Amino acid sequence: MAFAKIGIMSIGEMGYHWAKLLKARGAEVLTYDRDRSPVTQRRAENAGVKSTGSLTELCSSADLIVSIVVPSAALKVAAEIAKAAGEADRKNLIYFDANAISPMTAETINRVVSESGVNFVDGCIIGSASKMDKGAVIYASGPEASRILELGGYGLSVQVLGSGTSQASAFKVVYAGLTKGLQGLFVELLMGAKRFGLLDEIIKRYDESFPGLLEKVSSSIVGLRIHAGRRAEEMDELQRTYAHYGMQALMAPAIQKVLGSIADLEIRETSVKGAREGDLMETLELFYQQGLMSNTRLASNASK
Ligand SMILES: NC(=O)c1ccc[n+]([C@@H]2O[C@H](COP(=O)([O-])OP(=O)(O)OC[C@H]3O[C@@H](n4cnc5c(N)ncnc54)[C@H](OP(=O)(O)O)[C@@H]3O)[C@@H](O)[C@H]2O)c1
Repeated sequence: MAFAKIGIMSIGEMGYHWAKLLKARGAEVLTYDRDRSPVTQRRAENAGVKSTGSLTELCSSADLIVSIVVPSAALKVAAEIAKAAGEADRKNLIYFDANAISPMTAETINRVVSESGVNFVDGCIIGSASKMDKGAVIYASGPEASRILELGGYGLSVQVLGSGTSQASAFKVVYAGLTKGLQGLFVELLMGAKRFGLLDEIIKRYDESFPGLLEKVSSSIVGLRIHAGRRAEEMDELQRTYAHYGMQALMAPAIQKVLGSIADLEIRETSVKGAREGDLMETLELFYQQGLMSNTRLASNASK
């Protein structure tokens, strides 16, 4: 039987699209957003998500709680849910962490929530928020991972990777390195092409050499206007994961710097409908006008 009441922490861009789909297929979607930003609260309202009065109430009511926050908040949110689930005396609750976190963070979250008797499932999402019913895939791992397959009943695509409590996070780390790497590399090179007055020519040449590649990455580059900071954090997770396993990531620090420079432009505009605005050319123009990759801009960021 599919979960009937699903708690989502929080209704960000991804949470909004989950909520819309789950609600459209009959699930009750809950959240706790009293301490969240007005944008998140409005998104919850727009998606018809009910905000409970407390986290304890959320844990008492939901059959499943999904964490889709920013990776840096994943452990904090898990600890709060563990405490609230303990207070609500919920032993059979499933906690699904779908954030892009390192396998080490996933293991820590597993320990924290298991101590409260909550069943932890590690997860990740591959694909963009607006494509949750059009090709995006939710991966799950851990002893209880097969329970997440029930979300298939709501039009979400779910795959189980295995029984390890951090396999899904490890999978996302190496996948994210490719997507963020392509975004960072394209932005860096296209800023140069713009400076040399060769933007249209190089885009045409890239497409002749690698048909469809830039087009595929374009909407993620537009998404950098909102998500560059979070994606830079993911590159930090990649480095820490490699270090944990006795390896060194050499590309990730560079990608992190490019994405971090975009976040420093402070052009982040969030949408209450979880939608992305702008196209590739507008986004490149915006980055260029803000001095992205210029020595002056990089020096001023370094001195902050
Ligand atoms: N967006 C995508 O297309 C996409 C694709 C694949 C995977 N993901 C994964 O989905 C997750 C969320 O991404 P997103 O794009 O939805 O990010 P987002 O739009 O920035 O939303 C993040 C949400 O988390 C909330 N949040 C932040 N700190 C919190 C805390 N301490 N406690 C509770 N809630 C907190 C934010 O609330 P405030 O507004 O109050 O800050 C916001 O509602 C990430 O782990 C990401 O890797 C996203």
